[in-house]
Amino acid sequence: MNNLLDIAGLQRADIEKLLDSAVEIKGRLQKSGKYCNDLKGKTVMTMFYENSTRTRISFESAAKFLGAEVINIPVDASSVKKGETLIDTTKTLDKLCPDLIVVRHNASGAPQIVAKNTRAKVINAGDGLHAHPTQALLDMFTIREHFGKIEGLKVAIVGDIKHSRVARSNIEALSKFNVRPKLYSPKTLMCEGLDKADIADSLEQAVKDADVIIGLRIQLERQKAGLFPDVAEYAKFYGISTQLLSLAAKDVIVMHPGPVNRGVEISDEMLKSPCCLKDEQVQNGLAVRMAVMKAMLGD
Ligand code: NCD
Repeated sequence: MNNLLDIAGLQRADIEKLLDSAVEIKGRLQKSGKYCNDLKGKTVMTMFYENSTRTRISFESAAKFLGAEVINIPVDASSVKKGETLIDTTKTLDKLCPDLIVVRHNASGAPQIVAKNTRAKVINAGDGLHAHPTQALLDMFTIREHFGKIEGLKVAIVGDIKHSRVARSNIEALSKFNVRPKLYSPKTLMCEGLDKADIADSLEQAVKDADVIIGLRIQLERQKAGLFPDVAEYAKFYGISTQLLSLAAKDVIVMHPGPVNRGVEISDEMLKSPCCLKDEQVQNGLAVRMAVMKAMLGD
């Protein structure tokens, strides 16, 4: 596998192969300890221009557990703060011979620019509103692990669709399995023109008979920008609560990429419910990122 910049560049068979490899890695992590030498001698650099807890640590852990050397570029303390451009920073890093650069950036398309300016392979760890391919892969893994399949399931995605790279990558990944998710959000936070999903008229309609409900973080700065009036009102009309579950399929699962605004896009009670797989998603993310790195750098 060359770069992983978005889901659109993957075929269904590529995704299935990565998920199969992640199943094997997850089993190995649970049974026989964390470390192996699959990527011994390889150097992975992480370059996060946006805040991140789980994604950055997940990539770093994945690379270390595979035996790679990991170098985290402290963007806030780097020459980026002196005005160095992304292209110049990338060219500088390239001279240090990384095998893989993992990049998160607030500008859509930044990972493509990095990929054009380095000989290293590149993983997009989230770029602007565009894509977050490893999040979609770990979400597909979580769904497939629970149901044994993805095709044929009903999926609802609720929240700030417009600003969500997670929603875009998940819609793209689900389309590879012929699933058209139902989307629901305030009109100001909806993205028109998504041809691989349907827009629901109400929260109830979105989650009706759903096997999977994916909640998205509501970015509170959107409220300041006037895109929704009030957090409490948002929670009332768009929040995922346990009361909603009676409308969904019997063994529905609820997912969220994190970080969560408790009591806003998802209720506290919902977070405690066994059908909420938020923590499993984090665990699965490690195995999935290990599988991706192995596919890119392994022999
Ligand atoms: C998401 C992201 O950064 O795109 N989080 C994550 O990677 N787990 C979602 C978000 O920040 O809302």
